[in-house]
This record gives sequence, C-alpha cells and structure tokens, in this order.
Amino acid sequence: SSKVDCYPEPGSSESGCYSRGCLWCPSNNPGDPWCIIPDGGKSFLRKYLNTSPNTNGYRITLAKIHTTTLFGDDVDTVTLDVSFDTEARLHIKFYDAANERFEVPLPINGADATAPADPLYDIQFFNDPSFYFQVIKKSTGTVLLDTSLGGLTFSDQFLQIATRLPSTTLHFFLKISHFPSYQHNFDWESFGMWARDQPPDPGANLYGTHPFYISMEDDGNSHGVLFLNSNAQDVTTTPAPGLVYRTIGGVLDMYVFLGPEPNRVVEQYNTAIGTPFLPPYWSLGFQLCRYGYGDLNTVKETVARMDAYDIPLDVQYGDIDYMDEQRDFTYDTSNYAGLRDYVRELQAGGKHYVIILGELHLSHWDMTDPCITQDDPPGTYPAYDDGASMNVFVTTSDGFTPASGKVWPPGKCAFPDYTNPDTETWWTDQCMDFHKTINFDGLWIDMNEPANFVTGSTEGCASNNLNNPPYMPKIWGNVLAEKTMCPDHRHKLGNHYDVHNLYGWSQSNVTIKSAVASTGKRPFVISRSTFVGSGQWAAHWLGDNNADWHDLRMSIIGMLEFNMFGIPYVGADICGFNGSPSEELCERWMELGAFYPFSRNHNGLGYKEQDPAAWGDEFAARSRAVLRTRYTLLPYLYELFYHAHTDGTGIVRPLSFEFANDKTTATIDEQFMWGAGLLLSPALYEGIKTVSAYFPDARCFSLRMGKIGGASFSLRMGKLVGARGTTASVDAPLGTIPIHVRGGHIIPTQEPASNTEISRHNPFGLIIALDDTGSAAGDMYWDDGDTLNPIESGQFAHFTFNVQNNQLSTTAEGSTSIMLGMVMGSLRIMGVSSPPQSVLVNG
Ligand code: GLC
Repeated sequence: SSKVDCYPEPGSSESGCYSRGCLWCPSNNPGDPWCIIPDGGKSFLRKYLNTSPNTNGYRITLAKIHTTTLFGDDVDTVTLDVSFDTEARLHIKFYDAANERFEVPLPINGADATAPADPLYDIQFFNDPSFYFQVIKKSTGTVLLDTSLGGLTFSDQFLQIATRLPSTTLHFFLKISHFPSYQHNFDWESFGMWARDQPPDPGANLYGTHPFYISMEDDGNSHGVLFLNSNAQDVTTTPAPGLVYRTIGGVLDMYVFLGPEPNRVVEQYNTAIGTPFLPPYWSLGFQLCRYGYGDLNTVKETVARMDAYDIPLDVQYGDIDYMDEQRDFTYDTSNYAGLRDYVRELQAGGKHYVIILGELHLSHWDMTDPCITQDDPPGTYPAYDDGASMNVFVTTSDGFTPASGKVWPPGKCAFPDYTNPDTETWWTDQCMDFHKTINFDGLWIDMNEPANFVTGSTEGCASNNLNNPPYMPKIWGNVLAEKTMCPDHRHKLGNHYDVHNLYGWSQSNVTIKSAVASTGKRPFVISRSTFVGSGQWAAHWLGDNNADWHDLRMSIIGMLEFNMFGIPYVGADICGFNGSPSEELCERWMELGAFYPFSRNHNGLGYKEQDPAAWGDEFAARSRAVLRTRYTLLPYLYELFYHAHTDGTGIVRPLSFEFANDKTTATIDEQFMWGAGLLLSPALYEGIKTVSAYFPDARCFSLRMGKIGGASFSLRMGKLVGARGTTASVDAPLGTIPIHVRGGHIIPTQEPASNTEISRHNPFGLIIALDDTGSAAGDMYWDDGDTLNPIESGQFAHFTFNVQNNQLSTTAEGSTSIMLGMVMGSLRIMGVSSPPQSVLVNG
C-alpha cells in the first residue's frame, strides 16, 4: 500500500524500470504500479544539508543524493522555505534559489508579520535515510502530511511530492462527474488538471483547475491543502492512504489550512485566495438563456410567455446568435434588429440583460469565443484593428506574430492576452463602446480555457520540450495543445505552457473591471474557465452538461466543489444543455435549480424548447411555485453571500461539513445545505414521488409553499420531523423540493414577486426554528442591491436576531437610509413548546 509509481508515464517495462534505479514488482492487483521507487519510496529523496530558523519558520537546503533520474534535468539543490503564516496556516515551498521559475501571480492574503506564538500545527523534518517531513495537528497529534511515502522529485519539467493522508475521507480537486460519488477512492485513481473545452464527462480534465483538497480526519476535524501551481498536473490517490501530486513546471508550493472544523478550512482557504465577489441582488433571481433563439422575436415570445404565466424571471441572456457572425462587440442587425430597444424595455420592467462575449463558431462544439477574428479587411472590424495596433494578442514563440486559431467563417483568429496590461485597456474600451449600443447588465465569458478548434494553431505546433514535455500528465488527448494553443506560444506573463490554466482567470480579472467601467454598477461576470482565486471576479456555471438524470445528480457535486473553491456563485444549466429533457426531468431540474446559487435554465443549439413556460399550464404553475420559494428565501441567500464575501464561508455545504462527527453524512451527495440553516433533499430519480432523506441529529422542521386561504402562494410550515440521526421517507410530488429548517436558526425571508426589482419592496419575514433549548439565532444583510462596494462605503444595513427564553431580540447597524422602507411583515415561529396565550411587542 505504500508504493509510489516510478514509471507514471505509459510504456513501463522491466528494463526501463531498472535503468531508473527502481524495482520491478509485478502485481495482480489492477491499478498497482509495477515499477516502484525502492526503499519504501525513500531512495529518490534528497538529504537536507542544513536548516536555519528565520523570522517565521525555516529555510532548508536539499541536495540530490541519487544518481538516476525520472525525466532528466533534475535541479541539484532545492531550497525549501517553511513559513508559519498564521496560527492556522502553514506555507511549504520548494523552489530553485539559483534559477527563477514560473510562479502563479496570485497574492495569498493574510500572513502574519512574525510567526504565531502558538500555531495549531507542528512540522518535523527527518533525514533517515533521506529527507521527509510531517505536519502534525498539535491538539490531536494527527499526522496530516507525511512525505515519507517518498518520491519527492524536483526537475525542470517534472515535480512530484507524495504524502500519506490521515484518513480516506477526501474531498475535491475538480472532480465533478469524474466518478459516481463526491468522495475519492484510494485505488490509484488519477485525474489530470489542464483547462479544456470539455463537457463534464467521467475521467476528463474539465474547464478549470483547482488543486485543493479537504481531508476529514477520523475524529471529525479537517484540514485543507492547496498546491499553488498553474502547469499541467495530475493527482493519483494511493492505498496508503496517500496521494501523489505531479506537475510539469513552476514550483512546489503548498499551503496547509488547519481548520479544525471543515467550514473553517473553507473560510481559511477562501480568505487566503481572495473571497468571492458580492453579487448584485438581481443576479440571485431566475435567469433564462438558450443557444439558438435565432432571432429577437423568439426571445420576446419566450419572455412574454414567462410573464403571462407570472413565472419569476430576472435575467434574460444573449448567446452568440445575437452577434453578427459570432463577432464580439457586434450584433445581428437583421435577425436581432431592435435588440437595443428591447434591452431597455426589459430593464424598464425590472429585468436585466447579460451578453456572452464570444464570437467565432464552427459548430457548437468548436468555438473560440475569446478569439478575435483576424481576416476582416482592415477598417471593418475595429476590435481586431485596435487590438493589433496595441499588440494585445498572444504571439507565437517568436514573440511578435499573433498566434492564429481557426474561426468561423473560414479564416483565422487571434487570442487576447489578458496577462498584458494593455489588453485591459483595449478590452475595456471595446466593452464600454458596445455598452453604448446594447445596454448590457453583465458579461458572460465563455470558451476561455482557451478553446480552439485546431490543435495548437492553424500552423500546428513546433516540436520542442514545451509542446512535447517528457512527462504528460493524465489529461485527455495526451497532447497539451489539443483543443487549445501551442504551449510554446507567448503571453506577457510567460509561456502558454505555464499560463494556460490562468487564461479564464486572467480574463475574469480584466472583465470585472470592464463591466464596472461599462455599467458603473456592481458588476456581474460569469466565466467557464476558472482557477484558484477566480471567485473574486467571476461566477461559474458547470458547462455543457447533458439533459439526463445522471447530470442532474452530478450538478450537486459540482456545486459543492465550487463552494470549497471560493466560487459559491455556481449552478448547472437547468434542464441540461445537450439533448432534450423529458418533462419530468426538466421539472425535477427546475426544483433543484431553484436552489443553485446561479439559477439559470440554458439549452444547446437545436434542442426542444425547455424554458418553464414552454411545457403548458401545470409545468408553469409548479415552476412558479418552486421559484417563489426561492424568491421567498433570497434574503437568506443574500446574507450567505455577504458572509462568503466577508468571511469566505461556503454557501452550499455538504451535510458532512455541518455534522462532521456524524460519519453517515460523509458520503451524502444527494442532499445539501444552504448555510447552516436549510436542508434540501431534492428528488433526483425518474418516477419517484418520495425521497429517502437523511436527517442528522437536530430538530428539523418542514417548509413548504402552498395556498393559504385566498392568498396566492405563501409559506406553509412547520412540521417537526420525527427522524433524528436516521433516514426517513419524505413526500416529494412533482413541483416540490423537500426543504427543512434546522432548529436553532432564523431565516430572513421576503414576499416573492415576478422579479427582484419588485420583490425587494415587499415585506420581510423571519422563519424562526427553535432548537431543543428553545433558542435560535440568525442575521440579515441588506443594501440597495447594485451599488459598487456597499460594505466599504457603509451603504448597507445588518441585523442580528436572537431568541432565548421566549423572547426575540434584534440589533440593527449600518445605514438608516437603507433601513427606511423595510417592513417586517411576519414572524413564523416553529417549535414553541405550548400554544402562546399572548404576544407582546416592545413590551
Ligand atoms: C459553449 C458554452 C454554452 C454556450 C455555447 C454557445 O458551448 O458552454 O453555454 O451556449 O458555447 O455560445
């Protein structure tokens, strides 16, 4: 179980193995490596020459002691800096002090100036027979990292570190749809990370790169580890239990977050990499999109039938078919004639309009959205002319010829280099100019892995070590340039080899500024490709999923993952992108999707209409009900976003993060929580009318929408669930998603309406669910919904609510002008021990 693979690339053979100085150990166990590093993995290690304490840790010099090599170009002397960043964060970095290597330019926030007096961790170094280290959680003695597994390698294009893990409960690394559960197995499961235009297929490397995991220790404590590296990389789990991390460039840069509660790990991680942006309130409403409305009339008809059914709708999208031949910053003046006025009309009715930035399409699989067409005659396509004169495009390895991708209509396109400061000026100018034509409210940036429909470039790729590295991480296609640019192409910040995974990240960072400059309001940017820290600037949707039950379920895993990754504003295409869903599937998806932070029904080209107004009266009525439930709960969602933004907490959480000591919750990925207070148990299988839901050991009260008296829709509540610490069957007829409020929590609500512009003026309410002691607490954040930086400028109100001894008390702080006009309409209290005889307000 302690093996480390000495021949991780294909073609392992006995002679090849011995020539590396490794051991050939055939095994009957499928998945076992046959060529292994000898001496329990230690013989590939280095010896430390010296350790010297510095202000907040140690500097250690490591010399190579073995003569063989895995992939050549070993760095002889490696420096290891260990910094005690904060009480709960340890930084471990291996680098080459003699030669500068690529490093991710993401500032990691919040390191203390001097070492903390009493950190939660200890680190110990060993030299027997060669170097390894252990990180220990001091309070429990648990060894969190233990690199005695061996295999530490630092060469120019192959860096590897292997560690034992304290348990087999490991979450995340971007994994959605890789495997059937959100946990990892430890049977040599490998997966690559290299951003790819890739629908979430099992085993594939997907749109983004998030080399971060959370390990839950057996005693319910947790810790997290980030490998801050943007090269092509992969991870393999081993039965030790352990994992082997490999990357083909940069440095080995690790951050350990000590928690100890899992939610604290998420906070510590998100605070370090940059907490998520606070979204405008309207973007919490329901959103509608499809690729291929084809013309403006179809868009108008779709929105009109949503309105006719009074189904809440806040945002309408324009996908690439609104453009003139898929060119960014243009619109189709014949099929979309009148778009300019229509957008104003939508806005006058309280809705918003978001446009995709992308242009060039071949078929719907092969587009190169950030790519700017090069072949228009000079003077006819200003976006390219301006960009070319400012040299904002990624170049070939010569450093000045813009690299060419393939575009539609036939011709070539260039890729903006968002790591170049001039690109920000150019891109922002284009956005601001176009905003004068189409008054968009937000920007949707797509295909920014970046996608390309030729391998590398229209001229192919040269043969060299960047385009064909000696070790190929376990990615689809086994070629770095597949579906993207040549790795030896040049960006301002470095070779595409090093910055590929940062393409969508750098585009997001620039586009959020362009959105602010264009609208003057709180920005909204949604990006397909993401990296560590992207959540500060952009939201994410889970990409081109299938309209099937499997992908409905997988979307929960994706949503949970991105909440760990600091991108809590996330959701999947409701009803599925590829394929036409059955009516039942689409209804169930509307129910689940009403509880995605990003709630958007989106459809691929050529499939059946699937907006909630397209299916007739019953479907529309049920969708209206679930969306009204969402809208009722939006103040709670907004409060969760406030905490995500200020403290880095996750919004959508696995049950195991709230009930870490309850082992049953460790594998639950078909239920999830909104914050600590709401438990959601969606129906995810065809034909079912009940859901078998797990109820942890807490009071849980049901929450449903229904007709009360003559009123249209209101909240019905609050049966106490009998089950505690066990599974129970819950009714889930079509049109409902079982929701339970956890005792001890106060959930702020607001009467729903057909969009948030209207609902924001309605009375608020509180749902108060008392715990076993009769207590409950909660809070609420409020602002005008789209001011820039409301917290920094004090333009917000914050309320806390507390119930104890049959008494509710509140505090309010912040701007009184924000509080003016806020009306408390109802208090609903669940779990009162005996019927009240009287209710007193302020005495
Ligand atoms: C990509 C996107 C999808 C979009 C389509 C057309 O496939 O992932 O959401 O609709 O391009 O722009």
